[in-house]
Amino acid sequence: MIIRNGWLVLRGGVEKKDILAVDGKIVKIAESIENTTGEEEINAEGLHIFPGLIDIHVHLREPGFERKENIESGARAAVKGGFTQICCMPNTNPVADNKIVVGYIRQRGKEVGLCKIHPIGAITKGEKGEELAAIGSMQKAGAVAISDDGVAVKNTRLMYNAMQYAKGFGIKCLCHCEDKDLVDGGVVNEGLSATITGLKGIPRAAEDIIIARELALAESLDAPVHICHVSTYSGVRLIRDAKAAGVQVTAETCPHYFSVTDEIIRGYDTNTKVNPPIREEADKLAILEGLKDGTLDCIVTDHAPHHEDDKNVEYNLAAFGISGIETSFGFAITYLYKTGVLSLSQIAEKMSYNPAQILGLEGGEIAEGKVADLTIANIEESFVVDSSKFESKGKNTPFNGYKLNGVVKYTIVDGDIKYKA
Ligand code: DOR
Ligand code: ZN
Ligand code: ZN
Repeated sequence: MIIRNGWLVLRGGVEKKDILAVDGKIVKIAESIENTTGEEEINAEGLHIFPGLIDIHVHLREPGFERKENIESGARAAVKGGFTQICCMPNTNPVADNKIVVGYIRQRGKEVGLCKIHPIGAITKGEKGEELAAIGSMQKAGAVAISDDGVAVKNTRLMYNAMQYAKGFGIKCLCHCEDKDLVDGGVVNEGLSATITGLKGIPRAAEDIIIARELALAESLDAPVHICHVSTYSGVRLIRDAKAAGVQVTAETCPHYFSVTDEIIRGYDTNTKVNPPIREEADKLAILEGLKDGTLDCIVTDHAPHHEDDKNVEYNLAAFGISGIETSFGFAITYLYKTGVLSLSQIAEKMSYNPAQILGLEGGEIAEGKVADLTIANIEESFVVDSSKFESKGKNTPFNGYKLNGVVKYTIVDGDIKYKA
Protein backbone atom coordinates (compact mmCIF):
# COMPACT_ATOMS: atom_id res chain seq x y z
CA MET A 1 0.00 0.00 0.00
CA ILE A 2 1.12 3.55 -0.71
CA ILE A 3 -0.33 6.45 1.26
CA ARG A 4 0.29 9.67 -0.59
CA ASN A 5 0.42 13.37 0.23
CA GLY A 6 -0.51 13.07 3.92
CA TRP A 7 0.95 15.02 6.83
CA LEU A 8 2.85 12.48 8.91
CA VAL A 9 2.67 13.05 12.64
CA LEU A 10 6.21 12.08 13.60
CA ARG A 11 7.98 12.17 16.96
CA GLY A 12 9.76 15.37 16.02
CA GLY A 13 6.99 17.19 14.17
CA VAL A 14 4.71 17.05 11.16
CA GLU A 15 6.07 16.39 7.65
CA LYS A 16 4.39 15.89 4.29
CA LYS A 17 5.63 12.54 2.95
CA ASP A 18 4.50 9.34 1.23
CA ILE A 19 4.49 5.98 3.01
CA LEU A 20 5.03 2.56 1.46
CA ALA A 21 3.79 -0.37 3.54
CA VAL A 22 4.53 -3.95 2.57
CA ASP A 23 3.56 -7.10 4.48
CA GLY A 24 2.26 -5.09 7.41
CA LYS A 25 5.42 -3.02 7.86
CA ILE A 26 6.37 0.52 6.93
CA VAL A 27 9.22 -0.04 4.49
CA LYS A 28 9.74 3.44 3.09
CA ILE A 29 8.97 7.04 3.98
CA ALA A 30 9.95 9.58 1.29
CA GLU A 31 9.01 12.78 -0.51
CA SER A 32 7.50 10.91 -3.39
CA ILE A 33 7.28 7.15 -3.81
CA GLU A 34 6.85 5.64 -7.25
CA ASN A 35 4.27 2.88 -7.62
CA THR A 36 6.19 0.30 -9.60
CA THR A 37 4.46 -2.83 -8.27
CA GLY A 38 0.78 -1.90 -8.61
CA GLU A 39 0.29 -1.21 -4.90
CA GLU A 40 -3.09 -0.08 -3.57
CA GLU A 41 -3.04 3.70 -3.02
CA ILE A 42 -4.67 6.04 -0.55
CA ASN A 43 -4.66 9.74 -1.35
CA ALA A 44 -4.25 11.44 2.01
CA GLU A 45 -4.12 14.99 0.63
CA GLY A 46 -5.23 17.35 3.40
CA LEU A 47 -5.23 14.54 5.97
CA HIS A 48 -2.96 13.78 8.92
CA ILE A 49 -1.46 10.34 9.49
CA PHE A 50 -0.98 9.40 13.11
CA PRO A 51 0.74 6.30 14.43
CA GLY A 52 -2.13 3.86 15.11
CA LEU A 53 -3.89 5.01 18.26
CA ILE A 54 -3.58 2.73 21.29
CA ASP A 55 -6.04 2.73 24.20
CA ILE A 56 -4.72 0.81 27.19
CA HIS A 57 -7.92 1.11 29.26
CA VAL A 58 -11.22 -0.11 27.84
CA HIS A 59 -14.05 -2.37 28.98
CA LEU A 60 -15.30 -4.86 26.39
CA ARG A 61 -17.69 -6.70 28.75
CA GLU A 62 -17.23 -10.14 27.16
CA PRO A 63 -17.56 -12.71 28.65
CA GLY A 64 -20.70 -12.21 30.69
CA PHE A 65 -22.02 -8.73 30.03
CA GLU A 66 -22.56 -8.96 26.27
CA ARG A 67 -25.77 -6.98 26.65
CA LYS A 68 -23.54 -3.96 27.31
CA GLU A 69 -20.82 -4.73 24.72
CA ASN A 70 -18.96 -7.66 23.24
CA ILE A 71 -15.50 -8.05 21.77
CA GLU A 72 -16.80 -7.59 18.23
CA SER A 73 -18.92 -4.49 18.87
CA GLY A 74 -16.15 -3.01 21.00
CA ALA A 75 -13.58 -3.65 18.29
CA ARG A 76 -15.82 -2.05 15.65
CA ALA A 77 -16.22 0.98 17.88
CA ALA A 78 -12.45 1.06 18.46
CA VAL A 79 -11.47 1.12 14.79
CA LYS A 80 -14.14 3.75 14.09
CA GLY A 81 -12.53 5.79 16.87
CA GLY A 82 -9.13 5.39 15.17
CA PHE A 83 -7.71 2.76 17.53
CA THR A 84 -5.45 0.03 16.21
CA GLN A 85 -4.76 -1.59 19.59
CA ILE A 86 -6.78 -1.73 22.80
CA CYS A 87 -6.24 -3.33 26.20
CA CYS A 88 -9.33 -4.57 27.99
CA MET A 89 -10.00 -4.65 31.70
CA PRO A 90 -10.78 -7.93 33.46
CA ASN A 91 -14.04 -6.99 35.24
CA THR A 92 -16.07 -9.41 33.12
CA ASN A 93 -18.14 -12.39 34.27
CA PRO A 94 -16.31 -14.61 34.90
CA VAL A 95 -13.53 -12.21 35.80
CA ALA A 96 -10.40 -12.53 33.63
CA ASP A 97 -8.41 -13.82 36.59
CA ASN A 98 -7.00 -16.97 34.96
CA LYS A 99 -5.35 -18.13 31.75
CA ILE A 100 -8.58 -19.61 30.33
CA VAL A 101 -10.53 -16.34 30.27
CA VAL A 102 -7.44 -14.34 29.28
CA GLY A 103 -6.76 -16.81 26.45
CA TYR A 104 -10.40 -16.68 25.33
CA ILE A 105 -10.40 -12.86 25.06
CA ARG A 106 -7.16 -12.92 23.11
CA GLN A 107 -8.43 -15.61 20.77
CA ARG A 108 -11.79 -13.91 20.22
CA GLY A 109 -9.99 -10.64 19.47
CA LYS A 110 -7.98 -12.40 16.78
CA GLU A 111 -11.10 -14.00 15.26
CA VAL A 112 -12.85 -10.63 15.08
CA GLY A 113 -9.72 -9.41 13.29
CA LEU A 114 -10.22 -5.64 13.51
CA CYS A 115 -7.87 -3.95 15.99
CA LYS A 116 -5.38 -5.81 18.17
CA ILE A 117 -6.93 -6.73 21.50
CA HIS A 118 -4.72 -7.29 24.52
CA PRO A 119 -6.30 -8.69 27.67
CA ILE A 120 -5.44 -7.37 31.13
CA GLY A 121 -5.62 -9.98 33.89
CA ALA A 122 -7.07 -9.40 37.35
CA ILE A 123 -4.81 -8.79 40.34
CA THR A 124 -6.99 -10.83 42.70
CA LYS A 125 -9.28 -13.80 42.13
CA GLY A 126 -12.72 -12.53 41.13
CA GLU A 127 -11.45 -8.98 41.81
CA LYS A 128 -12.52 -9.76 45.36
CA GLY A 129 -9.33 -8.47 46.93
CA GLU A 130 -8.80 -11.64 48.97
CA GLU A 131 -6.31 -13.83 47.11
CA LEU A 132 -3.84 -13.13 44.31
CA ALA A 133 -4.79 -14.41 40.86
CA ALA A 134 -2.33 -16.63 38.96
CA ILE A 135 -0.31 -13.73 37.58
CA GLY A 136 2.45 -15.71 35.85
CA SER A 137 0.12 -18.04 34.00
CA MET A 138 -2.05 -15.13 32.83
CA GLN A 139 1.05 -13.34 31.59
CA LYS A 140 2.04 -16.45 29.63
CA ALA A 141 -1.50 -16.62 28.19
CA GLY A 142 -1.11 -13.08 26.85
CA ALA A 143 -2.11 -10.72 29.66
CA VAL A 144 -0.16 -7.49 29.11
CA ALA A 145 -0.77 -6.13 32.62
CA ILE A 146 -2.81 -6.77 35.76
CA SER A 147 -5.56 -4.65 37.31
CA ASP A 148 -8.59 -4.95 39.57
CA ASP A 149 -10.10 -1.99 37.71
CA GLY A 150 -13.49 -1.00 39.06
CA VAL A 151 -12.14 -1.33 42.60
CA ALA A 152 -8.87 -0.77 44.44
CA VAL A 153 -7.17 -3.70 46.17
CA LYS A 154 -8.13 -2.89 49.75
CA ASN A 155 -5.53 -5.02 51.50
CA THR A 156 -2.21 -3.19 51.31
CA ARG A 157 -0.08 -6.30 51.89
CA LEU A 158 -1.86 -8.03 49.01
CA MET A 159 -1.20 -5.03 46.77
CA TYR A 160 2.45 -5.04 47.84
CA ASN A 161 2.72 -8.72 46.95
CA ALA A 162 0.95 -8.14 43.63
CA MET A 163 3.41 -5.42 42.63
CA GLN A 164 6.32 -7.62 43.58
CA TYR A 165 4.98 -10.57 41.58
CA ALA A 166 4.14 -8.39 38.58
CA LYS A 167 7.65 -6.97 38.62
CA GLY A 168 9.03 -10.50 38.56
CA PHE A 169 6.97 -11.32 35.48
CA GLY A 170 7.89 -8.08 33.75
CA ILE A 171 4.38 -6.61 33.80
CA LYS A 172 2.76 -3.68 35.60
CA CYS A 173 -0.14 -3.16 37.96
CA LEU A 174 -2.67 -0.68 36.59
CA CYS A 175 -4.22 0.87 39.66
CA HIS A 176 -7.81 2.02 40.05
CA CYS A 177 -7.38 4.35 43.02
CA GLU A 178 -10.41 4.62 45.26
CA ASP A 179 -10.84 4.29 49.03
CA LYS A 180 -14.30 2.72 49.19
CA ASP A 181 -14.81 3.58 52.87
CA LEU A 182 -14.30 7.25 52.14
CA VAL A 183 -16.49 7.09 49.02
CA ASP A 184 -19.23 5.67 51.24
CA GLY A 185 -21.89 5.59 48.53
CA GLY A 186 -20.93 8.90 46.90
CA VAL A 187 -21.84 9.25 43.23
CA VAL A 188 -20.42 12.61 42.08
CA ASN A 189 -17.54 14.91 42.96
CA GLU A 190 -17.85 16.51 46.39
CA GLY A 191 -18.35 20.20 45.74
CA LEU A 192 -20.84 22.89 44.76
CA SER A 193 -22.54 20.79 42.08
CA ALA A 194 -23.08 17.97 44.57
CA THR A 195 -24.60 20.44 47.03
CA ILE A 196 -26.88 21.98 44.40
CA THR A 197 -28.13 18.62 43.16
CA GLY A 198 -28.30 16.96 46.55
CA LEU A 199 -26.22 14.08 45.23
CA LYS A 200 -23.67 12.54 47.58
CA GLY A 201 -20.12 13.68 46.99
CA ILE A 202 -16.86 11.75 46.62
CA PRO A 203 -13.91 13.69 48.09
CA ARG A 204 -10.69 13.98 46.14
CA ALA A 205 -8.96 12.29 49.05
CA ALA A 206 -10.73 9.01 48.22
CA GLU A 207 -8.61 8.91 45.06
CA ASP A 208 -5.49 10.60 46.39
CA ILE A 209 -5.07 8.31 49.39
CA ILE A 210 -4.79 5.23 47.18
CA ILE A 211 -2.61 7.02 44.61
CA ALA A 212 -0.26 7.91 47.48
CA ARG A 213 -0.32 4.33 48.76
CA GLU A 214 0.49 2.83 45.34
CA LEU A 215 3.34 5.32 44.91
CA ALA A 216 4.72 4.37 48.31
CA LEU A 217 4.52 0.66 47.47
CA ALA A 218 6.19 1.16 44.09
CA GLU A 219 8.97 3.23 45.65
CA SER A 220 9.49 0.72 48.41
CA LEU A 221 9.70 -2.20 45.95
CA ASP A 222 11.47 -0.25 43.21
CA ALA A 223 8.72 -1.63 41.01
CA PRO A 224 6.85 0.12 38.19
CA VAL A 225 3.25 1.18 38.73
CA HIS A 226 0.65 2.79 36.48
CA ILE A 227 -2.07 5.04 37.88
CA CYS A 228 -5.43 4.82 36.10
CA HIS A 229 -7.79 7.67 35.18
CA VAL A 230 -6.34 10.53 37.24
CA SER A 231 -9.09 13.07 37.97
CA THR A 232 -7.82 15.30 40.82
CA TYR A 233 -5.38 18.20 40.91
CA SER A 234 -3.90 16.72 44.06
CA GLY A 235 -3.39 13.37 42.33
CA VAL A 236 -1.48 15.12 39.53
CA ARG A 237 0.73 16.77 42.17
CA LEU A 238 1.42 13.47 43.95
CA ILE A 239 2.47 11.84 40.68
CA ARG A 240 4.59 14.81 39.62
CA ASP A 241 6.46 14.77 42.94
CA ALA A 242 6.92 10.98 42.79
CA LYS A 243 8.34 11.20 39.27
CA ALA A 244 10.73 13.92 40.38
CA ALA A 245 11.88 11.61 43.19
CA GLY A 246 12.56 8.78 40.73
CA VAL A 247 9.57 6.55 41.44
CA GLN A 248 8.77 4.35 38.41
CA VAL A 249 5.30 5.71 37.84
CA THR A 250 3.27 6.34 34.72
CA ALA A 251 -0.25 7.74 34.64
CA GLU A 252 -3.27 8.21 32.44
CA THR A 253 -6.26 10.51 32.25
CA CYS A 254 -9.44 10.51 30.14
CA PRO A 255 -11.17 13.03 27.84
CA HIS A 256 -13.98 13.68 30.33
CA TYR A 257 -11.46 14.91 32.90
CA PHE A 258 -9.64 17.38 30.63
CA SER A 259 -12.64 18.84 28.79
CA VAL A 260 -15.54 19.46 31.19
CA THR A 261 -16.33 20.06 34.87
CA ASP A 262 -18.86 18.61 37.29
CA GLU A 263 -21.33 21.35 36.33
CA ILE A 264 -22.53 18.87 33.72
CA ILE A 265 -24.13 16.72 36.45
CA ARG A 266 -26.64 19.45 37.30
CA GLY A 267 -29.22 18.12 34.85
CA TYR A 268 -29.09 14.72 36.61
CA ASP A 269 -28.11 13.00 33.35
CA THR A 270 -26.90 9.59 34.54
CA ASN A 271 -24.54 9.48 31.56
CA THR A 272 -22.40 11.98 33.50
CA LYS A 273 -21.94 9.38 36.28
CA VAL A 274 -18.44 7.99 36.06
CA ASN A 275 -15.86 6.69 38.48
CA PRO A 276 -13.77 8.59 39.43
CA PRO A 277 -16.22 11.47 39.07
CA ILE A 278 -15.80 14.48 36.79
CA ARG A 279 -14.37 17.18 39.04
CA GLU A 280 -13.93 20.96 39.13
CA GLU A 281 -12.20 23.66 37.11
CA ALA A 282 -9.02 23.50 39.23
CA ASP A 283 -8.78 19.77 38.58
CA LYS A 284 -9.35 20.18 34.86
CA LEU A 285 -6.63 22.85 34.67
CA ALA A 286 -4.18 20.70 36.64
CA ILE A 287 -4.86 17.77 34.33
CA LEU A 288 -4.18 19.95 31.28
CA GLU A 289 -0.96 21.08 32.97
CA GLY A 290 -0.08 17.46 33.81
CA LEU A 291 -0.53 16.47 30.18
CA LYS A 292 1.61 19.38 29.10
CA ASP A 293 4.50 18.79 31.50
CA GLY A 294 4.54 15.00 31.09
CA THR A 295 3.20 14.10 34.54
CA LEU A 296 0.32 12.41 32.74
CA ASP A 297 1.80 10.08 30.14
CA CYS A 298 -1.23 8.99 28.25
CA ILE A 299 -4.85 9.51 27.33
CA VAL A 300 -7.17 6.52 27.64
CA THR A 301 -10.92 6.37 27.22
CA ASP A 302 -11.93 4.10 30.13
CA HIS A 303 -14.58 3.15 27.54
CA ALA A 304 -17.30 1.80 29.86
CA PRO A 305 -20.31 0.81 27.78
CA HIS A 306 -23.56 0.13 29.64
CA HIS A 307 -27.02 -0.97 28.62
CA GLU A 308 -29.78 1.63 28.64
CA ASP A 309 -31.39 -0.20 31.57
CA ASP A 310 -28.26 0.39 33.66
CA LYS A 311 -28.48 4.14 33.07
CA ASN A 312 -32.21 4.83 32.74
CA VAL A 313 -32.72 4.80 36.51
CA GLU A 314 -32.30 7.38 39.26
CA TYR A 315 -28.83 8.87 39.58
CA ASN A 316 -27.89 7.01 42.75
CA LEU A 317 -28.71 3.65 41.18
CA ALA A 318 -27.16 4.16 37.74
CA ALA A 319 -23.99 2.36 36.67
CA PHE A 320 -20.73 4.34 36.56
CA GLY A 321 -19.17 4.78 33.14
CA ILE A 322 -18.99 6.60 29.80
CA SER A 323 -18.89 5.01 26.36
CA GLY A 324 -15.95 6.98 25.03
CA ILE A 325 -13.96 5.18 22.40
CA GLU A 326 -15.66 6.83 19.41
CA THR A 327 -15.21 10.38 20.69
CA SER A 328 -11.77 10.29 22.32
CA PHE A 329 -9.72 11.38 19.30
CA GLY A 330 -12.18 14.24 18.64
CA PHE A 331 -11.86 15.37 22.25
CA ALA A 332 -8.06 15.33 22.01
CA ILE A 333 -8.04 17.36 18.80
CA THR A 334 -10.70 19.79 20.02
CA TYR A 335 -9.71 20.33 23.65
CA LEU A 336 -5.94 19.77 23.47
CA TYR A 337 -4.72 20.59 19.96
CA LYS A 338 -7.12 23.35 18.89
CA THR A 339 -6.66 25.08 22.25
CA GLY A 340 -2.87 25.00 21.94
CA VAL A 341 -2.30 22.75 24.97
CA LEU A 342 -0.54 20.02 22.97
CA SER A 343 1.01 19.75 19.52
CA LEU A 344 -0.03 16.97 17.17
CA SER A 345 3.21 15.13 17.94
CA GLN A 346 2.38 15.36 21.64
CA ILE A 347 -1.11 14.00 21.00
CA ALA A 348 0.46 11.07 19.14
CA GLU A 349 2.77 10.61 22.12
CA LYS A 350 -0.15 10.49 24.60
CA MET A 351 -2.37 8.29 22.44
CA SER A 352 0.11 5.98 20.77
CA TYR A 353 3.82 6.16 21.62
CA ASN A 354 3.58 6.29 25.41
CA PRO A 355 0.79 3.69 25.69
CA ALA A 356 2.98 1.31 23.64
CA GLN A 357 5.99 2.06 25.83
CA ILE A 358 4.07 1.64 29.09
CA LEU A 359 2.88 -1.86 28.24
CA GLY A 360 5.67 -2.95 25.91
CA LEU A 361 3.47 -3.17 22.81
CA GLU A 362 4.75 -2.90 19.25
CA GLY A 363 3.87 0.24 17.33
CA GLY A 364 3.43 3.76 18.61
CA GLU A 365 5.44 5.55 15.98
CA ILE A 366 5.67 6.11 12.24
CA ALA A 367 9.13 5.08 11.09
CA GLU A 368 10.72 2.77 8.55
CA GLY A 369 10.76 -0.80 9.84
CA LYS A 370 7.86 -0.24 12.25
CA VAL A 371 4.48 -1.96 12.06
CA ALA A 372 2.04 -0.36 9.58
CA ASP A 373 -0.59 0.56 12.17
CA LEU A 374 -1.87 3.98 11.14
CA THR A 375 -4.75 6.32 11.85
CA ILE A 376 -5.62 8.77 9.07
CA ALA A 377 -7.81 11.72 10.03
CA ASN A 378 -9.06 15.10 8.95
CA ILE A 379 -8.33 17.36 11.90
CA GLU A 380 -10.12 20.34 10.37
CA GLU A 381 -13.39 18.54 9.71
CA SER A 382 -15.94 18.53 12.51
CA PHE A 383 -18.73 16.19 13.56
CA VAL A 384 -21.54 16.32 16.07
CA VAL A 385 -21.58 13.53 18.65
CA ASP A 386 -24.63 11.33 18.16
CA SER A 387 -24.56 8.15 20.21
CA SER A 388 -27.38 6.61 18.17
CA LYS A 389 -24.70 6.28 15.45
CA PHE A 390 -22.12 4.60 17.73
CA GLU A 391 -20.84 1.19 16.72
CA SER A 392 -20.53 0.45 20.44
CA LYS A 393 -23.57 -1.11 22.08
CA GLY A 394 -23.03 1.43 24.84
CA LYS A 395 -24.85 4.65 23.91
CA ASN A 396 -24.02 6.14 27.32
CA THR A 397 -22.31 9.45 26.63
CA PRO A 398 -23.11 12.83 28.19
CA PHE A 399 -21.62 14.48 25.09
CA ASN A 400 -24.43 14.10 22.55
CA GLY A 401 -24.65 17.32 20.55
CA TYR A 402 -21.01 18.31 21.21
CA LYS A 403 -19.30 19.53 18.06
CA LEU A 404 -15.80 18.06 17.81
CA ASN A 405 -12.94 18.45 15.36
CA GLY A 406 -11.07 15.41 14.13
CA VAL A 407 -12.78 12.89 11.88
CA VAL A 408 -11.12 9.49 11.50
CA LYS A 409 -10.99 8.55 7.82
CA TYR A 410 -9.02 5.29 7.84
CA THR A 411 -7.81 2.93 10.52
CA ILE A 412 -5.05 0.67 9.22
CA VAL A 413 -3.83 -2.37 11.15
CA ASP A 414 -0.80 -4.37 9.95
CA GLY A 415 -1.14 -2.64 6.58
CA ASP A 416 -4.82 -3.57 6.13
CA ILE A 417 -7.69 -1.07 6.09
CA LYS A 418 -9.95 -2.03 9.02
CA TYR A 419 -12.11 1.06 8.96
CA LYS A 420 -12.90 3.56 6.22
CA ALA A 421 -15.25 6.50 6.81
O1 DOR B 1 -16.86 4.55 35.50
C1 DOR B 1 -16.33 3.45 35.59
N1 DOR B 1 -16.80 2.38 34.94
N2 DOR B 1 -15.25 3.33 36.37
C2 DOR B 1 -14.72 2.13 36.65
O2 DOR B 1 -13.75 2.09 37.36
C3 DOR B 1 -15.33 0.90 36.13
C4 DOR B 1 -16.07 1.16 34.89
C5 DOR B 1 -16.97 0.03 34.48
O3 DOR B 1 -16.53 -1.13 34.48
O4 DOR B 1 -18.12 0.30 34.14
ZN1 ZN C 1 -11.28 2.33 37.07
ZN1 ZN D 1 -12.02 1.28 33.79
